[in-house]
Amino acid sequence: MLISFDNVVRVYGRGSSSVKALDIKKLRIDRGEFVAVTGPSGSGKSTFLNLLGALDKPSSGCILVDGRELTALGEGALCRYRREKVGFIFQAYCLLPTLSALQNVLTPALPQGAGRRTNDRARHLLRRVGLSGAEKRLPGELSGGEQQRVAIARALLLDPDLILADEPTGNLDSVNGEGIIELLKDLHGMGKTVLVAGHDQRVTETCGRVLHLVDGRAQGDSCLPRAHF
Ligand SMILES: Nc1ncnc2c1ncn2[C@@H]1O[C@H](COP(=O)(O)OP(=O)(O)O)[C@@H](O)[C@H]1O
Ligand SMILES: [Mg+2]
Repeated sequence: MLISFDNVVRVYGRGSSSVKALDIKKLRIDRGEFVAVTGPSGSGKSTFLNLLGALDKPSSGCILVDGRELTALGEGALCRYRREKVGFIFQAYCLLPTLSALQNVLTPALPQGAGRRTNDRARHLLRRVGLSGAEKRLPGELSGGEQQRVAIARALLLDPDLILADEPTGNLDSVNGEGIIELLKDLHGMGKTVLVAGHDQRVTETCGRVLHLVDGRAQGDSCLPRAHF
């Protein structure tokens, strides 16, 4: 088993204005699973992925990833976890606007800087996502679909086991969205554990498992028969 959540609660704010954004009693995800995280807007999908990616901390409860208790790690260990174990793909791409596509892909290798091998890997990843020749272009000179593919290459630079994608097709037209889903499927095929939040029906049809959130609680957790994916 790769991931476990036990009695994980995330509350935003205090007192009467507080919001319980997530409340997960017990959840297990195995290595190599492809999980769609669905639910209406505000149901806690981003909160869930942010906690798993250690971009945020739970108010209470225990999150284990690969035997490590995230809630017990110090800042240094959390930084390493975020950089090396997790590839995060955001709806808004979150590329640095003044860096080229290649430099954006290389950012997880900072602050140490990238050696020749890392540079070669970044170029290879850009080719894999169909962007060879775009290495020097700035994000503003790329389409939305191309920017998201740069973000995917960046997420893969340090070869993380766990890929977290938060509504990765949310800003894309259907053709570009399809390309992103194909890339996520490829990553799952390579043995990565992939969690993708969103409403995209193509994602839920493709994934082996659907975790449906309502008001921060898991309402349904269905594993499809293997024949479905
Ligand atoms: N930084 C924040 N401060 C206060 N409330 C927040 C914050 N982030 C999210 N929330 C609230 O937590 C709930 C879950 O939000 P979110 O995880 O973003 O849902 P989703 O990604 O499914 O749309 C919502 O009610 C949202 O308003
Ligand atoms: Mg969200």
